[in-house]
Amino acid sequence: MKNKCILITGGAGFIGSHVVRNFVTNYPETQIVNLDLLTYAGNLENLRDIENAPNYRFEKGDISDEAFISKLFDKYPIDGIIHLAAESHVDRSITNPMEFIRTNILGTVVLLNHAKQSWQGNFEDKLFYHISTDEVYGSLGNTGLFTEETAYDPKSPYSASKASSDHLVRAYYNTYGLPIVISNCSNNYGPNQFPEKLLPLAINNIKNMKPIPIYGKGDNIRDWLFVKDHASAIEQIFNDGKTGETYNIGGNNEWTNLDLIHLLCKILDEKLNREPGTSASLISFVKDRAGHDKRYAIDSTKIQEALNWEPSLQFEEGLEITVDWYLKNQKWMERIVSGAYQEYYKTMYDNR
Ligand code: NAD
Ligand code: TYD
Repeated sequence: MKNKCILITGGAGFIGSHVVRNFVTNYPETQIVNLDLLTYAGNLENLRDIENAPNYRFEKGDISDEAFISKLFDKYPIDGIIHLAAESHVDRSITNPMEFIRTNILGTVVLLNHAKQSWQGNFEDKLFYHISTDEVYGSLGNTGLFTEETAYDPKSPYSASKASSDHLVRAYYNTYGLPIVISNCSNNYGPNQFPEKLLPLAINNIKNMKPIPIYGKGDNIRDWLFVKDHASAIEQIFNDGKTGETYNIGGNNEWTNLDLIHLLCKILDEKLNREPGTSASLISFVKDRAGHDKRYAIDSTKIQEALNWEPSLQFEEGLEITVDWYLKNQKWMERIVSGAYQEYYKTMYDNR
């Protein structure tokens, strides 16, 4: 990957921070440009360890801002894009869908247009890699798995906006020949996740002896994958994925929300030296999410066979690493909860 310049969008977020670190570290001769708007979900503290690497640049900006993206393409000789920037939380999409349309749909089209213009006539060694979710496939019943052939049937404003962006990315491949690849992944967990998502929220509440909100009966099922395994799949797809293809990425690891939270409570009781059952006593059943998808589960045979990728960790192991990380990084959590993490950009970058 010598002499390449890769634009990674959303690199200050949860998954993006792991992807940026991998690329900055593994490809020292490749320029990595991290473009992020630093919304409530973007946190540059996630990248503190690599921010001074010679092959790393941070650019603050909005993917849906045409003028800004145009200047960015003038400034850097971008030949690869890994597009993760998005509004990512289903509950927020229910209360404020418009932000999801703007970033997830319009922002993706702005990037597609600029990649097309900038690479026009020379698509060789270029790639637009779009990161998406299994939620585009809708909701499963008790049986079955999402494959790459499953028809799209998104149910929430979040998944509908991601489905729309997936379709647009494929449309640019079919219509203009833009070299693209897409992956659709199941629920990620691990370090750096914003504590609005189930696992970090529950870990933080258990730690502070606050109620753990479980939507409905807690019988919805999700497939969980450790974030670093997702990041390694992304690296492999970027390097060896076939242009125009879609890859599903999953952990083969289904849990009902309630069973998952019971397992988490057991781990935290042990780590915090609490009487067994103390943390589970915090479980609090609350009003269900509107249109709550019942079950997601992925068939990841294609990526296993084509790219020889599979999750590296057993779930219990990954969950323990995750819990240890949040317990060890309480300052990170406190700064997020208080909003102080958003000051980091000003101190680090405003004077440069
Ligand atoms: P996140 O919310 O943690 O991070 C999103 C990042 O995008 C933030 O740093 C934010 O500042 C940035 N951003 C938002 N709007 C922007 C804009 N207009 N311009 C530039 N930057 C902007 O999200 P995440 O969980 O890391 O998810 C990353 C990607 O992976 C998303 O595309 C999401 O749909 C997809 N995905 C997530 C999961 C999951 O379990 N979290 C699973 C599958 C796919
Ligand atoms: P979430 O982490 O928001 O991811 P997604 O909605 O993208 O799957 O939620 C995971 C599951 O946990 C989902 O079924 C909703 C449920 N949930 C709760 O029960 N309580 C909570 O406080 C949250 C945030 C989610």
